[in-house]
Amino acid sequence: MNTKGFSTIILAAGKGTRMKSSLPKVLHRIGGKSMLQHVIDAAEDAGATQNIVVVGFGRDKVETAIGNTARIVVQQEQLGTGHAVLQAEPLITKNDTVMILCGDTPLLTAKILKNFYESHINTGAQASVLTAVMPDPAGYGRIIRNFNGEFKKIVEHKDASISEKAITEVNTGIYCFNAASLFPALHQVGHDNAQGEYYLPDVLEILQKENEKINAIAADNYESTLGINSREQLAHAEKILHHRKNHQLMNSGVTIMDPDTTYIDSTVVIGQDTVIYPSTWLQGNCIIGANCEIGPCSRFSDTVIKDGAIISFTYAHDCEIGANATVGPYVHLRPHTKIAANVHIGNFVEVKNSNVGTGTKLPHLSYIGDSDIGSGVNMGCGCITVNYDGKNKHRTTIEDNAFIGCNSNMVAPVKIGKNSYVGAGSTITKDVPDGSLAVGRARQTNIEKWHDKRN
Ligand code: UD1
Ligand code: CA
Repeated sequence: MNTKGFSTIILAAGKGTRMKSSLPKVLHRIGGKSMLQHVIDAAEDAGATQNIVVVGFGRDKVETAIGNTARIVVQQEQLGTGHAVLQAEPLITKNDTVMILCGDTPLLTAKILKNFYESHINTGAQASVLTAVMPDPAGYGRIIRNFNGEFKKIVEHKDASISEKAITEVNTGIYCFNAASLFPALHQVGHDNAQGEYYLPDVLEILQKENEKINAIAADNYESTLGINSREQLAHAEKILHHRKNHQLMNSGVTIMDPDTTYIDSTVVIGQDTVIYPSTWLQGNCIIGANCEIGPCSRFSDTVIKDGAIISFTYAHDCEIGANATVGPYVHLRPHTKIAANVHIGNFVEVKNSNVGTGTKLPHLSYIGDSDIGSGVNMGCGCITVNYDGKNKHRTTIEDNAFIGCNSNMVAPVKIGKNSYVGAGSTITKDVPDGSLAVGRARQTNIEKWHDKRN
């Protein structure tokens, strides 16, 4: 087998009119990344030697999104898929193998692309097209074969006759070409069709008529080749993608109680024997340990959760949660929060940009912002670190084993020393030395027989 590798040309210049969006179609996201990025990543994993993306509509946004993950060529006017491919001609050398992909097929896998490339090389064809049998072929180009079953041509949906529309084998929009055949044929493609566009699939008919060998290979899984043209198809693809991830996790030893309501990005890692309860959404670079219980009704993004943590009804982003910590219900953990092992965070607590030490308890109704809390601290109900003076944020330090009474305010910058106590209802504005009791509230006065005097 030829192992010199292949270049890809990924078409991403179209507006995606059917999306009804100001965002270029290929930048719509599913499973945590843009459709285009899914395609680039699949090509990369399949071993492409270079990826070239053709951009046009919303060019700046698309270029920014791609970053340096691919090379870029510009199609100034969107005159059709054939015209789009022509724009990449200067970047391709004559003896290259070129794989053409569309930026709107986010379910592609590296495996499909690799198998397709290998069969293109092994059959010695000048051009190969990947086909799929779709339960609903509407919108796709149909594969027309001759009476021997050999490839004849592709007819676009809008140009198809009623009998051609009945064909369920479609063009997936994925092709391999020997560059030496592709570009001369592409220069001959016209635009005499229903959409007045230069259709890339017409190249195959031209090569066919020149008696070149064309290979139409059927994919074994149509779902992976679905093209997304509308919001409805986007939602359908999202479902397929998250079921794919759930399936993979369950096979690796994760319990997912209700796969239909569990949304996990492909980037997320989860350890064995962790249980994911219903209505849970795990986004981005979440890394979850073994033996955790996550959810129900929780959302995590870019959060690391260590082994044995139990977390319910929680929203956490850019955080770290230690081993065997218990968090929830109704907790919001905001960026740059680091919760150590065995911490307990309970009902209606918000923590932001803070460190919370081993075994500390924040059980009810507290706001902890810009704070460094040691280990073994007990925070009573309704405590607040007052971190903002209207202009600047300041930090609060609470050292190991301090005991903070209910409904206290710590006005930052302030430090509560080791083993100290804060009386309930205090407003602490001065540092508290180690081992002392601070009471910062009005002394109680009792006026006796008050009831009798009033009457
Ligand atoms: C195309 C194929 C169709 C195939 C289907 C598979 C053509 C003419 N038709 O149809 O046979 O079944 O894909 O999904 O190729 N694009 C450009 N520049 C353009 C036009 C399009 O870069 O001038 C890009 C789009 O951004 C998109 C891709 O090419 O990523 C496909 O374009 P789209 O309009 O979605 O083609 P389909 O009608 O789906
Ligand atoms: Ca399409």
